[in-house]
Amino acid sequence: MKTKNFYALMMATLMGTALAIETADAKTLVAYFSLTGNTKNAAEIVAKETNADLYEIELVTPYPSEYKEQIELAKKELDEGILPPIKPWPENINEYDVVFVGSPVWWGTMATPVRTFLTSGVLKGKIVIPFVTHGSGGADNSFTDTAKLCDGCNVDVDGWAGYGRVTLGLKKWAKENLEEATK
Ligand SMILES: Cc1cc2nc3c(=O)[nH]c(=O)nc-3n(C[C@H](O)[C@H](O)[C@H](O)COP(=O)(O)O)c2cc1C
Repeated sequence: MKTKNFYALMMATLMGTALAIETADAKTLVAYFSLTGNTKNAAEIVAKETNADLYEIELVTPYPSEYKEQIELAKKELDEGILPPIKPWPENINEYDVVFVGSPVWWGTMATPVRTFLTSGVLKGKIVIPFVTHGSGGADNSFTDTAKLCDGCNVDVDGWAGYGRVTLGLKKWAKENLEEATK
């Protein structure tokens, strides 16, 4: 997404130069949810690599700490279409052109707190690039579900998936997909 730098253009015009400034200066956000730190780790790498701001999606009521309870609650939420309430997102979220969305894979798809974010409508009109960490099952339906859930968003389904803390290829993917999405 190429946007013209208005003030620079004004200055160039005032100074009588024919300088037209076109920079790929898309404002980028990395939004993520993470229960045990794997997706947080990946999100921090994506943000650093793409010079983006970071936003952690947080639940109003945190998940239980026991794995068995987490699994059961997540399953219930997915089966019953429950969207757990999340804390407010950044006030300036409308300023972002591109939003990377990071999630752990839960039951083969995006975690329910991320589903709350994706279905909220706040990402409408934005480029959305998903990435996930998983426990060996891969991305499964995560990326196609992101496209289904994020109504009116321009979802790049060429997401990145990594096993646990393994971040193989993540930097390259983040850079290339941002460039591709904004050119
Ligand atoms: C509720 C729940 C459901 C999960 N479902 C899957 C799954 O379907 N496939 C998979 O590969 N891993 C699954 N996992 C493992 C996580 O995706 C994996 O550990 C992930 O890296 C955790 O990310 P986090 O540390 O950011 O929370 C599940 C974990 C939890 C807690």
